[in-house]
Amino acid sequence: MIIKKTPQEIEGIRQAGKIVARAIFEMAEFLQPGVTTREVESVAKSVFERYGAQSAFWGYRPGRGMPPYPGYVCISVNDEIVHGIPGDRVIEDGDIVSLDVGVRYRGFVGDAAATILVGNVSRRARRLAKVTYEALHKGIAAAVPGNRISDISRAVQNWVEKHGYSVVRDLVGHGVGIYLHEDPQVPNFVSDEFPDPVLEEGMTIAIEPMVCEKSYATKVDADGWTVRTADGGLSAHFEHSVAITREGPKILTLLENGKEPYVPK
Ligand code: MF3
Ligand code: CO
Repeated sequence: MIIKKTPQEIEGIRQAGKIVARAIFEMAEFLQPGVTTREVESVAKSVFERYGAQSAFWGYRPGRGMPPYPGYVCISVNDEIVHGIPGDRVIEDGDIVSLDVGVRYRGFVGDAAATILVGNVSRRARRLAKVTYEALHKGIAAAVPGNRISDISRAVQNWVEKHGYSVVRDLVGHGVGIYLHEDPQVPNFVSDEFPDPVLEEGMTIAIEPMVCEKSYATKVDADGWTVRTADGGLSAHFEHSVAITREGPKILTLLENGKEPYVPK
């Protein structure tokens, strides 16, 4: 069931989304060679505390029998696609680091992600991150009333494949706002295996392309969470929570000043 939101509820999601963006912004500023992913996570925790917000990821159980998520944010490095657990890993010069943040604030949830370029990043990794960022915005542009979910999927997939990359099939975007994961699913690829609802005013969705340099095949680490490319190729991830409105798509996970938390250059 798709939960449509009132303009007031969309404002509430935007308030949560601002905290999400702030956490990504501050982690991106903090990231440099030599820091551990646990230290990066603590930057996000201090942002959550400052605003009185909660992590929407901590303790999250995607399904029966899965271990609860043991971190406050997800930090996924290089060939890690998503759901990397913060820990002792030390960031190195040239790493690409995907930061994924979900916040619960006053009954609303915002969810966003960005892949940060740390230090001297190879041209090839830089291009992957840029194309993934652009693919997200192609998808957002298609998030208008009257279009279908598949119009978003197609816009993302076309942009990614045109640049010679592949789109992850094992994970998809989702409705968001009251819960972290709501209907509908928002695949980044066109497939008739998914329901394809028409987009209507008041829907709020998280669009989140996960893009691989080579094959989209994934594997999961022994920790039960970290999803990485099966072939060891690099991967990037950008995400925004977006409202469908008659005035067009409204990104709900921007900073207080209306800017993106991070743009790869
Ligand atoms: N942002 C991701 C998503 O939208 C991560 C959530 S998984 C969690 O699905 F366990 F960390 F919550
Ligand atoms: Co998400």
